[in-house]
Amino acid sequence: MRSVIDILDLTTQEIDSLISTAEDIIENPDKYAHKCERKKLATLFFEPSTRTRLSFESAMYELGGQVIGFSSASSTSASKGESVADTVQVISCYADIIAMRHPKEGAPLVAAMNASIPVINAGDGGHNHPTQTLADLLTIKREKGRFNNLTIGFCGDLKFGRTVHSLINAMARYEGIKFVLISPEELKLPGYVKKDVIEKNNIEYVQTTSLEEVMSELDVLYMTRVQQERFFNEEDYLRLRDSYILEPSKLKDAKEDMIIMHPLPRVNEISVAVDKDKRACYFKQVLNGKYMRMALILKLLEEAQA
Ligand code: NCD
Repeated sequence: MRSVIDILDLTTQEIDSLISTAEDIIENPDKYAHKCERKKLATLFFEPSTRTRLSFESAMYELGGQVIGFSSASSTSASKGESVADTVQVISCYADIIAMRHPKEGAPLVAAMNASIPVINAGDGGHNHPTQTLADLLTIKREKGRFNNLTIGFCGDLKFGRTVHSLINAMARYEGIKFVLISPEELKLPGYVKKDVIEKNNIEYVQTTSLEEVMSELDVLYMTRVQQERFFNEEDYLRLRDSYILEPSKLKDAKEDMIIMHPLPRVNEISVAVDKDKRACYFKQVLNGKYMRMALILKLLEEAQA
């Protein structure tokens, strides 16, 4: 059974084909309106979410399918001590595909190993978030027109930011990529991503604490929220949360065609005044995420039937 737990579960050719499907959905939504009739998506969200869960749900509805699920662990048998393995075996009897978010790294992988239907990782702890990456990739494709020869700055919480880890994995497969890693010392990219992904693929990168110093180099600026829920103490969070605040004045040296991305939710790291800048793409990312989730659900259900 084919599941998507890590963005690397999809080849670059498969990503191209998901992008083509998403672009076709954007052009011809009616063609897809009944594709998933009589199919059910189960959204198993053991951790809070607005965008991702509703994006999956609206994706399934727009394909003509139905949705069951829950949006917090406290209302489920997990609170009685049920294992993820048992929960997904049960859900496999009710639904055709699962989207799961879980605070524990690796939980969706355990789910995929025990489910008899496809499982999509909708975010596992501070680890991975492959469908946000699909949203990010469609955004980069539509806004920049390419995946090769890009200098991508990641700014903020690179330690706990799972969207950053997944996008680095995805972009590391293209040519001419340079990563600029901008974070406070305490929130640097985990060693396992730096060594196993960036260094292993011989990708050029720099690490810095200053956004201003590198702004003029960037083709893509990917801002992130400091992930409060993954901190062990409030004091550290309060000290680090406002490390970077993107304001219009800070964009003075940025390229005219740089794009500003953010997986959302935003807290303080991008001032609302930046929303009016034509380079701001974060609300486009949200819409792109729905189309890419539609394309992914279609693909996995088609493969499951084959
Ligand atoms: C991200 C996440 O959940 O990791 N949100 C999302 O799914 N768009 C980013 C975040 O919470 O900061």
